[in-house]
Amino acid sequence: MSDAPHPQSRRLYGRAKGHPLSARQQQLVDTMLPGLSWADEGALDPRALLAGFDTHVLEIGFGASEHLIGQAARASDTGFIGIEPFLNGVAKALTGIEEHGLSNVRVKRADARDEIERMPDASFDRVFLLFPDPWPKKRHAFRRFVQEDTAAQLARILKPGGTLRVATDVRVYADWALPLLLDVPEFSWTASGADDWRVAPTDHITTRYQSKHLGDIEPVFMDFERKAA
Ligand SMILES: C[S@@+](CC[C@H](N)C(=O)[O-])C[C@H]1O[C@@H](n2cnc3c(N)ncnc32)[C@H](O)[C@@H]1O
Repeated sequence: MSDAPHPQSRRLYGRAKGHPLSARQQQLVDTMLPGLSWADEGALDPRALLAGFDTHVLEIGFGASEHLIGQAARASDTGFIGIEPFLNGVAKALTGIEEHGLSNVRVKRADARDEIERMPDASFDRVFLLFPDPWPKKRHAFRRFVQEDTAAQLARILKPGGTLRVATDVRVYADWALPLLLDVPEFSWTASGADDWRVAPTDHITTRYQSKHLGDIEPVFMDFERKAA
């Protein structure tokens, strides 16, 4: 991803650059990232990127990567793809991959909306969108990650029986995303009672961002299953 500003419709929340990277992080970005990333154009098939893995998981906007790295360390037989525009986050993921000696993770510094469009139908078993940037003001709602088109794209790239988890601690985001996701005919919301969305799922890994409680509600976890075709 270049440092060029995004077009208006693709603006990112906050800055895509943060603190200067440490020398070690810069070294990982320079030497390790090219081998773990993929081309900017052409088809983007997780089965080609992570050949030899039967199960593929996508994490969109992994932030400081605690969840991505934690999940990948738990499941060495599963291939993980993480997409994050924030360079510091990508550098943290590289550190995690190195520290845990993970060979089942690929990461790219990119806007996930551009990458998802290049992915084939039914290519992921799970997709995580955890605590997406809230864009809480009504006039910025069109910038939120969950929109009619992205929701349809998420359903498209999931395998039948695959699952999408969206978590947020911002009320307007939950109120915005839930109806949009419920409107996708291929999705069924797996919740049968309030505990199913108010209590963190047992497989969830809390991130530092989540721990800061920056939102205005307790986190909600919305799990959707991609119906059979
Ligand atoms: C509020 S942070 C949450 C980070 C992480 N998911 C967590 O729970 O700790 C939202 C993250 O989404 C990333 N993000 C924003 N827009 C994105 C996009 N279009 N594609 C991929 N990531 C995006 C941001 O850079 C940021 O790291």
